[in-house]
Amino acid sequence: MPNPAKTDFEIHPLLKNRYSPRAFLDKPIESAVLRRIFEAARWSASCRNDQEWFYVAGIRNQGPAFERICSVLTPKNQEWAAHAAILAILCGRVTFADGTTPNKWHAYDCGQSAAHLTFQAAAEGVSVHQMGGFDAQKAIAELSVPGGFLPLAAIAMGYAGDPASLPEQLSKWEVAPRTRRPQAEFVFDGAWGKALE
Ligand SMILES: Cc1cc2nc3c(=O)[nH]c(=O)nc-3n(C[C@H](O)[C@H](O)[C@H](O)COP(=O)(O)O)c2cc1C
Repeated sequence: MPNPAKTDFEIHPLLKNRYSPRAFLDKPIESAVLRRIFEAARWSASCRNDQEWFYVAGIRNQGPAFERICSVLTPKNQEWAAHAAILAILCGRVTFADGTTPNKWHAYDCGQSAAHLTFQAAAEGVSVHQMGGFDAQKAIAELSVPGGFLPLAAIAMGYAGDPASLPEQLSKWEVAPRTRRPQAEFVFDGAWGKALE
């Protein structure tokens, strides 16, 4: 159910209307749409153009990958994410492509790639819900993630559904007001703590 941000300043409708749903329709994502979503992730910026993001994805009702990814999520996340159309684990390479130089921007770049994916998805009418609630060690084992790569986030994608389809607690979270800290608390003028006027 749409739950648009109550912004202090006008922002792009894609940003305003994006949210992280837990209720999903029982509707697959067409493969051309999915390709465009991952294409957006592909064209994200990265330090030295290292492109150190890797997505291991599973499509619901198409082979064992979806269930395997679902099994590494926390039980609370499994409750709703099991109904998404796609689940993925985003892994970052912790070194640059040379395999030796540490890349301290890998999490930054992977997060940015996920943001690209999220907004292309939004433009396609597909919702994305990112998760930190998963077992990274289990993901490494279940998905054959090689050494030097770290699972950073789990990602559920699908068409947002009716919150009433969720168990009571999840349904309440789904319709709760969405809040953010004001800009004065995190946009500073020249030095830490002085709000930009
Ligand atoms: C890195 C990351 C980890 C998150 N982990 C979880 C999670 O494990 N379970 C969950 O239900 N939501 C999770 N979320 C979703 C956030 O709770 C959500 O983005 C936040 O409450 C703001 O809501 P909105 O995305 O609808 O604006 C996560 C989001 C991010 C970006």
